[in-house]
Amino acid sequence: MRIFVAGASGVIGRRLGPLLVAEGHQLTTLSRRAAAPADAGAGPGDAGPDDSGPRGARPGGARPGGARPGEAGPVGGSAGGSVTRVVGDVYDREQLHRLVAVARPEVVMHQLTDLGARDFAANDRIRREGTRNLVDAALAAGVRRVISQSIAWAYEPGSAPADESTPLDLHSADEARRTTVEAVATLEAITAEAPEWVVLRYGMLYGPGTWYAKGGLMANSRLPTGPDITSFLHVDDAAEAATAALTWPSGPVNIVDDNPVPASTWSPIFTKSLNTPPPQPTHPRQAIAPTNTHPGQTFGTTTHPRQTPSTTNTHTHPGQAFGTTTHPGQTLGASTAYARAGWARGAGNARARGLGWSPVHPSFLAFLG
Ligand SMILES: NC(=O)c1ccc[n+]([C@@H]2O[C@H](COP(=O)([O-])OP(=O)(O)OC[C@H]3O[C@@H](n4cnc5c(N)ncnc54)[C@H](OP(=O)(O)O)[C@@H]3O)[C@@H](O)[C@H]2O)c1
Repeated sequence: MRIFVAGASGVIGRRLGPLLVAEGHQLTTLSRRAAAPADAGAGPGDAGPDDSGPRGARPGGARPGGARPGEAGPVGGSAGGSVTRVVGDVYDREQLHRLVAVARPEVVMHQLTDLGARDFAANDRIRREGTRNLVDAALAAGVRRVISQSIAWAYEPGSAPADESTPLDLHSADEARRTTVEAVATLEAITAEAPEWVVLRYGMLYGPGTWYAKGGLMANSRLPTGPDITSFLHVDDAAEAATAALTWPSGPVNIVDDNPVPASTWSPIFTKSLNTPPPQPTHPRQAIAPTNTHPGQTFGTTTHPRQTPSTTNTHTHPGQAFGTTTHPGQTLGASTAYARAGWARGAGNARARGLGWSPVHPSFLAFLG
């Protein structure tokens, strides 16, 4: 199958490419750089800051066959599969249309993010404008199937892990979160314009090259310690799901592990795995009565100023210390009931399992050992 992969040099794309090539597909991979730091021909276990680098990569160096902007250059392949790298920017519509038309793909894979600089406005933009341009180019080229990367923590508040029928959290009182979820919803709606489409709602990635890798962002951040629940996902399982989605029916699918887990549980185990001191308790959100936990409720009130995390100002990653309902400086008693952010509820993977996917790494905690 001819597949156009946007985001092939990203944390998932680096693992996805080799899987697709091994299955015999012909890839055209998009990158803004003639010599990407990693490419779709690298081995799945070979990339990332906690690894030595992709097999065959030349740090900072050009590759033979590397392409100039707007051009294609062969990279190689195996088992009948092949990779042709093209250089282009998803914001250059005209160039993108040309590149996709020349590639004549049957499938477009959207694994684009813009998180390298932790600029969440940039990531919102690529979800909105990048997706628009990519899907327009795909439809103009007669592509039947688009498979896009989304997230599994954009659901509205509730007391149980969300499934795919749970509405997205488009009415959050938290403006930053609402903005993020609106961008996610836009990405998903544009993807659904394709005749066949799959939206992969990934859990919080861990493994080589991710923020949760040794030396990654979270290893150097103040960690949450409260009740917010995260569904994690090993990056290899993310890549496997994208490969499997080539034959899935249209729709959104949660791609998460089996074990949604509160920060109070994963945080100390994570630091122990890094041989760093356990995280200090973060200021809790407003204490709430345990009865205030029915589905759909937004936990706590918004009458307390937002806590500013020490190392990050993101508002939308459940693994991080932030919230809308905090008591700055509050001293914790042993019996204090912390309020969970209602949307930090985790997600279920029953649909993905029904489609034949299951995580090789079913639990972040087990992975940490
Ligand atoms: N579900 C999750 O938890 C999740 C998902 C994704 C990422 N993350 C985190 O975010 C961190 C960074 O993610 P990442 O490694 O995927 O890197 P990234 O910097 O977000 O880039 C991802 C991909 O998008 C491509 N891209 C970005 N802007 C583009 C543009 N304008 N035109 C064409 N292509 C563009 C990049 O290609 P080029 O740079 O080669 O042009 C790259 O292949 C990871 O360490 C990970 O932990 C988490």
